[in-house]
Amino acid sequence: MTPLSRERIRAFMRAFPDAQSDLPLRTKTYLKIGGPARLFFETDDGDRLVHAIRVARAADIPVAILGGGSNLLVADAGYEGVVVQNTDRDIRIKEDRITAAAGAITALIARKSVDSGLAGFEWGVGIPGTIGGAVYGNAGCFGGEMRDVVESVEAYFFDQDMTMTCTENVRTVRRGPAGSDKGRSGKKRAGMGCRFGYRDSRFKHETGLILRVTVQLKAGDLAASKKKMDAIIAARKTTQPQGAFSAGCLFKNYEIHADQPSAITNIPSEFRRTGTIPAGWLIDTCGLKGTRIGDAEVSRVHANFIVNRGHATAEDIHALYLLIQKRVQEKTGIVLENEVQFLGF
Ligand code: EPU
Repeated sequence: MTPLSRERIRAFMRAFPDAQSDLPLRTKTYLKIGGPARLFFETDDGDRLVHAIRVARAADIPVAILGGGSNLLVADAGYEGVVVQNTDRDIRIKEDRITAAAGAITALIARKSVDSGLAGFEWGVGIPGTIGGAVYGNAGCFGGEMRDVVESVEAYFFDQDMTMTCTENVRTVRRGPAGSDKGRSGKKRAGMGCRFGYRDSRFKHETGLILRVTVQLKAGDLAASKKKMDAIIAARKTTQPQGAFSAGCLFKNYEIHADQPSAITNIPSEFRRTGTIPAGWLIDTCGLKGTRIGDAEVSRVHANFIVNRGHATAEDIHALYLLIQKRVQEKTGIVLENEVQFLGF
């Protein structure tokens, strides 16, 4: 990473005196790992966030967006640029729709949806981090994923320098300063919407800052939804590491296709039926649970998690990640794809 020059740092700090320099990113991640962000800017004001990104880009400063830090590995050397974080946690419920700022906590939105008698997002309680991050990665668990519930997403796209509201079939485009709503305001065009895929969305491919998310649910039965939510919380407790520092699942589950490697012969029929081989099962089958590099350990509860046993470095986690990938490939021919986000590597 090329160090940021003093002038560029000063240019940003002049525009945003409340930005911080050299903020340790380990304080912002679930793994409790990560070196400093050369510049760090947090605000609950979406327009200021967009402005910060514009100023940074004009000064040729790399920009990274931090959601809740739940699915993120930050390098030990940190990030030589500006990390921006939306701290707006606003959640509004109107009839069957919930509109939340990107910084709102996903599990809290799920709990509020249930308390308001809405059904369809009980599983959201199992998603750590913010709703912005959940949309970005089309997060999912226990049979649900974000694409099932998202109605629209308002996002600022850096490269086009515009704010758009993306839905599955339509996008509205606003050009000009964020929030000004001038120009082609409200003009609907055929578009590609959020382009959700398995742990994927357009926001991963077109650098976009998610500002606001609207989910649409159904009127439900309060007692039934509460029961469902409790069952999800209980299932998570038994199948995933609890109270440990981790970044969630490391790898995507493997989708079986015709030219699948022949080295795996013992695939349980259940996985053949669903067409997906869980990464956790593959890693477990390779006997890797409990494997350790420094304080980084393959969870003994769920093999698709690496836990930080105390003082793991990003390098330890990364080395263990590569070791898992190599062993699984040697034994099964499958190259596991990463699900966790890397910053500063
Ligand atoms: N399995 C093993 N050994 C393990 C882990 C799993 O044999 O160490 C087997 C299980 O016995 C089961 C199968 O693999 O037969 C699937 O395991 P599990 O039900 O735990 O689900 P998963 O496919 O491993 C997915 C998501 C999780 C989500 C859970 C619960 C991915 C990569 N992971 O895990 O999402 O919480 O389902 O619905 O899609 C995440 O995305 O960060 C994440 C944790």
